[in-house]
Amino acid sequence: MKIDILTLFPEMCETVLSESIIGRAREAGYVEINCHNIRDYSKDKHRHVDDAPYGGGTGMIMQAQPIYDAYMNLTDNGNKKYHLIYMTPQGKTLTQDRVKELAELENIAILCGHYEGIDERVIEELDPEEISIGDYVLTGGELPALVLADSVCRMLPGVLRNDEAFEKESHFSGLLEYPQYTRPPVWMGREVPEVLLSGHHENIAKWQNEQSLERTKIKRQDMYELFVENDNKN
Ligand code: ADE
Repeated sequence: MKIDILTLFPEMCETVLSESIIGRAREAGYVEINCHNIRDYSKDKHRHVDDAPYGGGTGMIMQAQPIYDAYMNLTDNGNKKYHLIYMTPQGKTLTQDRVKELAELENIAILCGHYEGIDERVIEELDPEEISIGDYVLTGGELPALVLADSVCRMLPGVLRNDEAFEKESHFSGLLEYPQYTRPPVWMGREVPEVLLSGHHENIAKWQNEQSLERTKIKRQDMYELFVENDNKN
């Protein structure tokens, strides 16, 4: 898979995406990620990419032209097939199910807004999928783009080692993950649940399933109800 991020802050994105599991996945060739500076497509002699909003108001608006040209350059004027995503608090909230679907695509481009927003005309022209990472407002789309890129990359075959596999993680199956423990067996008087030390795989799996259900019921009533509803259908 290839992910291309269109941003005014490519270094910020590059720093995060060069570390840890995603950094390793890029080096190993499981995913190709490129960060492109929208400012490189400014036609302004001072490399400006923003201007004051028509109708007045505070803040600056990103202009349509540099964004459009950056995307046209990336897609070879529309000849290369890309799924374009615009990170915005006005989008649909990202879910694990959508992440799984996006991980099936060949090429994703992620557009990051900044300042007070983007000229509406380029959004109309490019018609991106709009994705939000939650009902709060950040200063730009870079952190949301990194959240999206990270969540998609870790779904790609080969990116996680077997012992880091995601099937048992929170949200993958519609439930939260069971509690986890590591050495020592007793810490500050708190003991690791006995069943986990028993070596009895069947009992351990049963305990983990029960814990998953119990946790979801307590912490995320909404998820629990949905899970029970779907379980009854099957
Ligand atoms: N840009 C600013 N805030 C955002 C959010 N919550 N989600 C996606 N993009 C954003």
